[in-house]
Amino acid sequence: MPDTIYQSSTTAPVNIAVVKYWGKRDPKLNLPTNSSISVTLSQADLRTHTTAACSSKFTEDTLEINSKLQDVSGVRTQACFRELRSLRSALESADSSLLKLSTLPLRIVSENNFPTAAGLASSAAGFAALVRAIANLYELPASPTELSRIARQGSGSACRSLFGGYVAWQMGEKDDGSDSVAVEVAPASHWPTMRALVLVASAAQKDVSSTSGMQTTVATSGLFPHRAKVVVPAAMAKMERAILEKDFATFADVTMRESNSFHSVCSDTQPPIFYLNSTSHAAIRVVEGINKVAGKAIAAYTFDAGPNAVIYFEEENKDSVAGTVQALLGGLDGWKGKTFETQDTTKLDQKAV
Ligand code: DP6
Repeated sequence: MPDTIYQSSTTAPVNIAVVKYWGKRDPKLNLPTNSSISVTLSQADLRTHTTAACSSKFTEDTLEINSKLQDVSGVRTQACFRELRSLRSALESADSSLLKLSTLPLRIVSENNFPTAAGLASSAAGFAALVRAIANLYELPASPTELSRIARQGSGSACRSLFGGYVAWQMGEKDDGSDSVAVEVAPASHWPTMRALVLVASAAQKDVSSTSGMQTTVATSGLFPHRAKVVVPAAMAKMERAILEKDFATFADVTMRESNSFHSVCSDTQPPIFYLNSTSHAAIRVVEGINKVAGKAIAAYTFDAGPNAVIYFEEENKDSVAGTVQALLGGLDGWKGKTFETQDTTKLDQKAV
């Protein structure tokens, strides 16, 4: 064991919520005020690759993201390290032949192939990959749902990136957060024709982080309690049904209303938070136009905590949707459009190196 470096690598995908998480009832454990649903995007273009290593050669825990050393003393990273070490330590206590990896310093090296903190859910893929890489290193017999409970403490939306396809984060009721976990609504293969067009309006760091933005919304928005208690529960039920029935028109209706509801409570925050810019508004108009011409909803826009648009559509409508968006918005300054598949990422996971 002296000097040996044990390591394991994995990748985790980006997920884009169609029913949004915005608000914490417990900021320490990242327990949300409402449930949410997301679609996982293909890892071919958007993913975090993470290697977790441990060795007695290392002097302390370190985390590097895109070649930059990060502060690991934050409560979120610490919570993930602590939970994973404690699961490993329980295995080591039960089986004395196991190496005492839980006592060794960790070295985590992570790389994103997309702009960090630009509203493309980098923290989600990042914490999901970190948790799964360490879980693989420790050979934990934990299911994606169990790991989602840990990844949630790193970043709420990260719990949904432990699954491919269509994923729900159930808000749970318990104070310890043991039931606030992600579950699969349907695998990507259930509705494999779903596509996501990601339009990068700006790759700049966002002004107001999700974490602080949602705290201010919870504290100051008069609309927020109605959203959390009435709007989202209804949207969750409708969205789950739409996914199970592959009903794109309903999927699109709920997705767009949800994005608008979320950005409305952001505007209703004091001081107001504006994540969308004029280019985002142009994207909304273009999608509305596409659906009007089609006579039904064949495209659905959604925006997270930034101006970048994600437009969902089905493969058969690629020309009408992606083609039109590209033709109308492609010439605008700074716009980059790319279509991504949705797929079952659990199959792509790489085990220990
Ligand atoms: C708008 O998961 O980034 O993307 O839990 O504080 O890390 P923390 O927040 P984060 O918030 C994501 C908010 C969102 C909506 C969503 O992904 O559901």
